[in-house]
Amino acid sequence: MEEKARFAVGLDIGTSTTRAVMGKIERDGKITVVGYGEVPSEGLRRGIVKELMSPPRVVDTCLRAVEDMSGLEANDATVNINGSHIGSAKVDGMIAVGVTDHEINDEDISRIADAAIAGKIPANREILSLVPYEYILDGQGGIKEPFGMHGARLELRANVISALAPDCDNVRKACEAGNLRARALEPSAIAAARAIVTNAQKENGVGLVDMGSATTSIAIYDEGELQFTGVVPIGSNDITNDLATVLKTVPEIAEEIKLRFASAKFGGSDKDIVIKRGRDEYRFERKEVDEVVEARLEEIFEGVRKLLKHAGYDKRLPEGLILVGGGSKLRDIEVYAREQVELAVRLAKPEGILGVSEDIMKPEFATAIGLMYADAEYQENDNRGFRESLNTDKKQKKPKGDGFFSRLLKKFK
Ligand SMILES: Nc1ncnc2c1ncn2[C@@H]1O[C@H](COP(=O)(O)OP(=O)(O)OP(=O)(O)O)[C@@H](O)[C@H]1O
Ligand SMILES: [Mg+2]
Repeated sequence: MEEKARFAVGLDIGTSTTRAVMGKIERDGKITVVGYGEVPSEGLRRGIVKELMSPPRVVDTCLRAVEDMSGLEANDATVNINGSHIGSAKVDGMIAVGVTDHEINDEDISRIADAAIAGKIPANREILSLVPYEYILDGQGGIKEPFGMHGARLELRANVISALAPDCDNVRKACEAGNLRARALEPSAIAAARAIVTNAQKENGVGLVDMGSATTSIAIYDEGELQFTGVVPIGSNDITNDLATVLKTVPEIAEEIKLRFASAKFGGSDKDIVIKRGRDEYRFERKEVDEVVEARLEEIFEGVRKLLKHAGYDKRLPEGLILVGGGSKLRDIEVYAREQVELAVRLAKPEGILGVSEDIMKPEFATAIGLMYADAEYQENDNRGFRESLNTDKKQKKPKGDGFFSRLLKKFK
């Protein structure tokens, strides 16, 4: 009997643009893109869903574009969560697992996860994922997968990614009202990293920076694992708005100045910038434009640097930073960023995508594509009954016995 075809959908609800990508999951696990959509967003502020009238309409319109292109229905998707409330925290815990010849089983692994989290994440936050760094069995550290090993005392060091629960609920509600079930939520930068960052880079130490219209988010990887994630609530639209204010012009003209003339190499030219609208001509001083762009960029990268410091990675990432998102398309931004953060900086866009892909191999599509990859992975876990409880029954769970991961495991059994 032929197996039913499986599809993965990533939905990136951005502050200025919402994008979705649908892919067919091939037998070998590779994904062929069969449709995508891109529509202007409404109802978000600094990455956060602020009302429930417009976002559902945006989600629905975007998904309809994907369906028209692919000829397939999109009912579920993995969706981004964004905003400066997103954070990660290192946790650890210890449990006794029984007598010396006890074999570590699923129940122990869920119990140690519960013990590590217990009481460390405030109740108004939703746990999005837990990244184990190492298990320690009877004092022996560096274990990645303790399942089946013998021991009496199990410890865990991990990273918990969490976000404000009401903001997560609003994203899910916006999707539901837009006829889509959010299978899972993933922070934008972590999703983008799936489409951009290689395992070797994650091993060496790297930061993925998603430069959006109203937010700049970062995901830091080292020793192969996610070490930190955070969001600076400033983005490229702030440059546009500042230009409009300082140059006393409308945002539409300010945006054109930014896209066509702005650069992050300052003081290079004295030539006036001229924008034409019909018979009208608007003239702006290059120096003034430079000053506005520089002031905002400085603020953005100071924010990034603060997060790097907070994470303990200031000037300490051998692979440097990789920039994606629409904001990374500002001319010469990588040169400026390198000076500001004192790290190697490069630009990237999704590559090696199969199917109808030309239009989406752009830095601003990295998050949606990464979310599609995440969706394929979560489906695998769903099949094993795993992700379900992480994301549909997602409020903070009580510790001890009936905790978050214990319940997850019961569902799995
Ligand atoms: N060529 C360009 N040069 C400079 N800026 C650009 C360019 N192209 C797009 N941008 C800017 O990129 C921003 C949009 O990026 P993106 O679509 O990644 O944001 P978003 O996902 O909607 O927002 P967020 O992630 O903050 O919620 C806009 O501010 C836009 O002006
Ligand atoms: Mg974005």
